[in-house]
Amino acid sequence: MSRPDRYAVVGNPIHHSLSPRIHTLFAEQTGQAMTYEARRGTPGQFAEEVGGWLAGELRGVNVTVPFKEDACQLAAVLSDRARRAGAANTLWTGDDGRIHGDNTDGVGLLRDLEDRLGCDLNGRRILILGAGGATRGILLPLLERTPAELIVANRTPARAEGLARDFADLAGDTRLQACALDALPDGPFDLILNATAAGLSEDALELPAGLVGPRTTAYDLVYGPAALRFLDWAEAAGCALSSDGLGMLVEQAAEAFAIWRGVHPETGPVLATLRHEAAD
Ligand code: ATR
Repeated sequence: MSRPDRYAVVGNPIHHSLSPRIHTLFAEQTGQAMTYEARRGTPGQFAEEVGGWLAGELRGVNVTVPFKEDACQLAAVLSDRARRAGAANTLWTGDDGRIHGDNTDGVGLLRDLEDRLGCDLNGRRILILGAGGATRGILLPLLERTPAELIVANRTPARAEGLARDFADLAGDTRLQACALDALPDGPFDLILNATAAGLSEDALELPAGLVGPRTTAYDLVYGPAALRFLDWAEAAGCALSSDGLGMLVEQAAEAFAIWRGVHPETGPVLATLRHEAAD
């Protein structure tokens, strides 16, 4: 009998990663013969280390903080969305023997927003807080939905302006703009995305309640305790809907799984299992 195909997620730190659990649930659900493990990567040695794994025992890897830019550089063949993001979260060896890279974060977010939360982004006003790697990873799929307005607000405004410039050629009918976090335009917004790392630090985001109207959805790209302060603010400000990013995590994993295995798992039951396990 042939051995199951092997996959891994690489990051540093990596011990809290939910990806092995998610992919194991996907594999059980779809009957795929595969294993999936977590590996701690060595900073400064990504290409040698992960290139070696992909030439050897692993069929594919997911890549998380802080190696997504390294993964983008390692891939010989990149999807448009990974090239635009400057980051890859999914690598595999193609039939051509070369390392391929994709970024499924943005499409994962869109699936969670549209399919689970029922958001329609076309013609809407969207505010993104933060202008780091997380924002860069989601701008292309968001612009593809042609919102009326997409504003990137950042503590360091020059970074937001840089992103707005880099994506200006994709903006089409969308008004893509940058601003400082302490000079936000008037609300209400239809969607407010928190893509800052503020939830991981002591300094809370100070956001005016005027950003929110009766139809506003608030979404934090991270999940768990790091999302709590933003979600508490959203509730107090009167958002119609708010969510952490656990659904995005499951959806980006499902996209990676589909790339590798050619079958798209059902995400709803897996998300429900993770929520149930987190509550235990
Ligand atoms: P990521 O890949 O998670 O986006 P990053 O590239 O380090 O990580 O970006 C972190 C983002 O969170 C940046 O937009 C950062 O703002 P600056 O560019 O001004 O540094 C933002 N951020 C981090 N801590 C923050 C805080 N306490 N308040 C507001 N923004 C914060």
